Amino acid sequence: MEKTYNIALLPGDGIGKEIAIEAKRIIDFLAKKKKLNINLSHELVGGASIDKFGVPLSDETLSRIKKCDAIILGAVGGPKWEKLDFEIRPERGLLRIRKELDLFANFRPALVFDPLINSSSLKPEIIKDLDILIIRELTGGIYFGEPRGIEKIDEENFKGVNTLLYTSKEIKRIAEVAFQTAMLRSKKLCSVDKANVLESTELWRNIIIDTSKKYPDVELTHMYVDNASMQLVRNPKQFDVIVTTNMFGDILSDCASMLTGSLGMLPSASIGILADGEKKAMYEPVHGSAPDISGMGIANPLAMILSIGMMFKYSFENELLSNNISEAVKSVLEKGFRTKDIFTSGSKQVSTSEMGDKILEELDK
Ligand code: IPM
Ligand code: MG
Repeated sequence: MEKTYNIALLPGDGIGKEIAIEAKRIIDFLAKKKKLNINLSHELVGGASIDKFGVPLSDETLSRIKKCDAIILGAVGGPKWEKLDFEIRPERGLLRIRKELDLFANFRPALVFDPLINSSSLKPEIIKDLDILIIRELTGGIYFGEPRGIEKIDEENFKGVNTLLYTSKEIKRIAEVAFQTAMLRSKKLCSVDKANVLESTELWRNIIIDTSKKYPDVELTHMYVDNASMQLVRNPKQFDVIVTTNMFGDILSDCASMLTGSLGMLPSASIGILADGEKKAMYEPVHGSAPDISGMGIANPLAMILSIGMMFKYSFENELLSNNISEAVKSVLEKGFRTKDIFTSGSKQVSTSEMGDKILEELDK
């Protein structure tokens, strides 16, 4: 009996719903063509879950998706739910999945497709052939540190508190992932911190240095986050693999996405490694739910489609299918098809679903 792959698809909100439709079409198509036993289930997260269950991720949903081999998530959030109490806002659903499944290693590749070189706001020579990978620690740091909250000091004054907390164990495991990944690429790793000001990232730097002793072939550098953000737009090709904390990685990955032309192009994988070596993983585009363009059929599904490519590579160890997907994206772009966000004069503008059609046509070859 062939292995069955259980995949949970969580479209979420806004354009998440539109790009999830394209995700499903691609997966169904590949399952049929390559005769893969894929069992795709739909689940609610974010605002969609709040509307139905009153919470951004129900316990039942969580326990079902925990059993899946991979999770694909669209995007969460929107103006409708912005006024809700912090604890039940859509984003908490996403953060809960990351935390409960211990998906501590977040891979955010930023790759420039040649045909898109003119969609970037940077000069072509700065970004041509760019291929960098940001590894973001995803379950620690200021996103989850305690104490946190807003408290009353007196009648007129409040205090808002978040805590940037890292244990050596948390740093150690992401450091290992980063060095191992660097070994498989060009053996260059840049660790980004703010060790001149924040003690928790001084610890980060110390542990990274400590771990580096196991990997003498990796050329390790350190950079403060303010400098790194500047260097990313000044000369991004100086980087190969970047490893950084949860919040710095959030910021730097948005910045890196614009090097590639559009936030709509960036996929991501969030991986957790269990004690027995088994992997848990969630795949999602780096972009958000984009309420301003939701429902208009103009969203770019490519970040989502490339995330499926990452799923085949990381969860199902099928590098061939993963490459097929990247190649399909490349061909479609070479033929001049563009969603609105990456449109430049002379190219052909297509809708979200037409972009899906074009990718399917390529995959069918
Ligand atoms: C991301 C997003 C999330 C984050 C939000 C939606 C909670 O910006 O995945 O980068 O801050 O991690
Ligand atoms: Mg972000």
